[in-house]
Amino acid sequence: MAKTTANTERTEVSEAQIAVHWKEEAYYQPSEKFKAQANMRDAHILEKFGLDKFPDCFKEYADMLTWFEPYRTVLDTSDAPFWKWFVGGKINASYNCVDRHLAKHASKAAFIFVPEPEDQPPVAIKYQELYARVNELAALLRGLGLKTGDRVTFHMPMVPELPITMLACARLGIVHSQVFGGFSGQACGSRIQDSGSRVLVTMDGYWRNGSLIDHKANADIAVRTAKDLGQAVDKVLVWQRYPGTYSAKTPMVPGRDFFMNDLLKEYTGRTVEPVALPSEGALFLMYSSGTTGKPKGAQHSIAGYLSYVTATSRWILDIHPEDVYWCMADIGWITGHSYIVYGPLANAATSVLYEGVPTFPDAGRPWRIAERLGVNIFHTAPTAIRMLRKLGPQEPRKYKYRFKSMTTVGEPIEPEAWRWYYDEVGKREAVITDTWWLTETGGFLGVTVPAIHPMKPGSCGPGAPGIHPVIYDETGAEVPKGSGKAGNICIRNPWPGIMQTLWGDRDRYVKTYFSKYNRNPSSKDWRDWPFMCGDGAVQAADGYYRILGRIDDVINVAGHRLGTKEIESACLTVPEVAEAAVVPVADEVKGRVPEVYIAIKPGVQPSQDIIDRVIRANEEVIGKIARPKHVYIVPDMPKTRSGKIMRRVLASISNRRDVGDVTTLANPDVVEQIRTLVQGKDVIATKDELPEDIAKFGQAE
Ligand code: WTA
Repeated sequence: MAKTTANTERTEVSEAQIAVHWKEEAYYQPSEKFKAQANMRDAHILEKFGLDKFPDCFKEYADMLTWFEPYRTVLDTSDAPFWKWFVGGKINASYNCVDRHLAKHASKAAFIFVPEPEDQPPVAIKYQELYARVNELAALLRGLGLKTGDRVTFHMPMVPELPITMLACARLGIVHSQVFGGFSGQACGSRIQDSGSRVLVTMDGYWRNGSLIDHKANADIAVRTAKDLGQAVDKVLVWQRYPGTYSAKTPMVPGRDFFMNDLLKEYTGRTVEPVALPSEGALFLMYSSGTTGKPKGAQHSIAGYLSYVTATSRWILDIHPEDVYWCMADIGWITGHSYIVYGPLANAATSVLYEGVPTFPDAGRPWRIAERLGVNIFHTAPTAIRMLRKLGPQEPRKYKYRFKSMTTVGEPIEPEAWRWYYDEVGKREAVITDTWWLTETGGFLGVTVPAIHPMKPGSCGPGAPGIHPVIYDETGAEVPKGSGKAGNICIRNPWPGIMQTLWGDRDRYVKTYFSKYNRNPSSKDWRDWPFMCGDGAVQAADGYYRILGRIDDVINVAGHRLGTKEIESACLTVPEVAEAAVVPVADEVKGRVPEVYIAIKPGVQPSQDIIDRVIRANEEVIGKIARPKHVYIVPDMPKTRSGKIMRRVLASISNRRDVGDVTTLANPDVVEQIRTLVQGKDVIATKDELPEDIAKFGQAE
């Protein structure tokens, strides 16, 4: 595995498989210094987690947790593919992240909160104080009548009150469902309805790009949306960004809205015993986009999930209690749940929480934070790396921080961006782990074990310990490594971090992730149930995987999954719009961004006003992150004879590629009209092939 290669892999295009041509990248080795201190130094770790040792190898993960009662069965497959891990055990996630550290680490910071305004100093919350605040809040939630199994939705920004509320829920077995703070009130409302939450936790305001945003306004929209969908919210619990001051303009609704800080006064000093919960109880829901317009609530377990994120934080992120670890993701996404809150805290880490945008007030901000707080493990996404590189390529040199390890997550990273990350941000000292995984998988799937495997820019690496990926073609045949061919990447076996189900939708869980490659629907043998991740991938001869992107109708915008159906339905809320089609366009910074094509109803005049309202509709229904790059009003959509919109043709036009043969369409002439509208009169299409995810886009149609 350690040899440097520089050959070009074979190229071939067929119906079922998109061939992938790319240059092999040279390996980078971890430094001796890093290796000497790493938590995981066993060169045989992957063999120790070989399929022949499955599932018992994962006992080692369970052993990293503190149990109230031991488990009896490592993996119960009786309700396949709804896997149950560590069955019979009793455990509490809040206890494992907080209480058990008090003996040794009471006065160490659990979180360091960095407000966006640079003149407001960072605030450290020690484990002892975290314990007090989690307990008081748990007492309050119990006082409100909430109990084990109830769902509570949060719509919180990046502030310490978010993990504190998560841990208070976990203490009681209340299932939290945090909706990304940047999502709109409507998006939050539909998730409230799906989860059946009667309580919403929010904050009055937060800082973003230099302004204090009125966030409470979104709570009112969320409650109204949920009500329209049939779910009543009884209480909205409002944290104050500055306790004692109300930072929003939107009025509080008497009898429904309460300030947390007022309610908490009654609970000062109160403690609540962590409830001994079954291993397979639900810890939280995390909604994510898929092929249909309805987001799916991935339900994660207490013991399996926590053991998985604890072990991967220790072995892959290489977190030691004395490290200062900073993950720049938002807790509103799975990365934040697993690798800002649960994984790091279970390891008694100091985890940095930054409220704002990385480039505020300038592209030196992350490096100033790292220098000031002594951050030595840094975790971010390719989008942020590209942005920071673009705005301040020399900035990192000005600061004296030193990282020992760095992570990237959420999107494929181009080798060029990887090298800047390595040379400039990591100062050629820090290892990089490219971590590939999904909301549904709880933790890492494809990654290098940093002290053991060399890095290869653009590839995530082999499967994580105990994760056994396989690439299947459309017929279910295995695509061999080194063949240069891509296929659907799946995982052969279950693992503790995998979600338990999709909330309230067992059928969709089976259908989306298992049906395609399941060998026998009534089998109780895990070998018959490979998990389909939804990504295209190619495996090099050395066993490393390169992830090509989503194969379903999901657009990965700046590392965030947006369903095309969700965007299209948002467009259709504008009454003049008859049809809408969304396609991904390659973007220098964000990776992919949505571009929208609309056809308007007969008799309606095309206008800028319609375009503006389509943009606004996306911001209101989903959030600013769904803002289309362009909206084009077209005379008609390119369609097949059976009337289906050919998104692939639109994707080619948007990405300045040759549209190929369109003569079989019902309306081939419209293609040239649309092309001229988007690209102008001259033919500017290149013959370059589309990036694989865009090429595959809409292929299911
Ligand atoms: C993509 C984020 C390439 C992939 C943890 C996946 C990646 C989707 C990587 C899941 C990576 C994530 N390299 N692609 N290192 N990490 N992806 O659910 O397409 O928000 O299916 O989870 O992001 O996004 P999600």
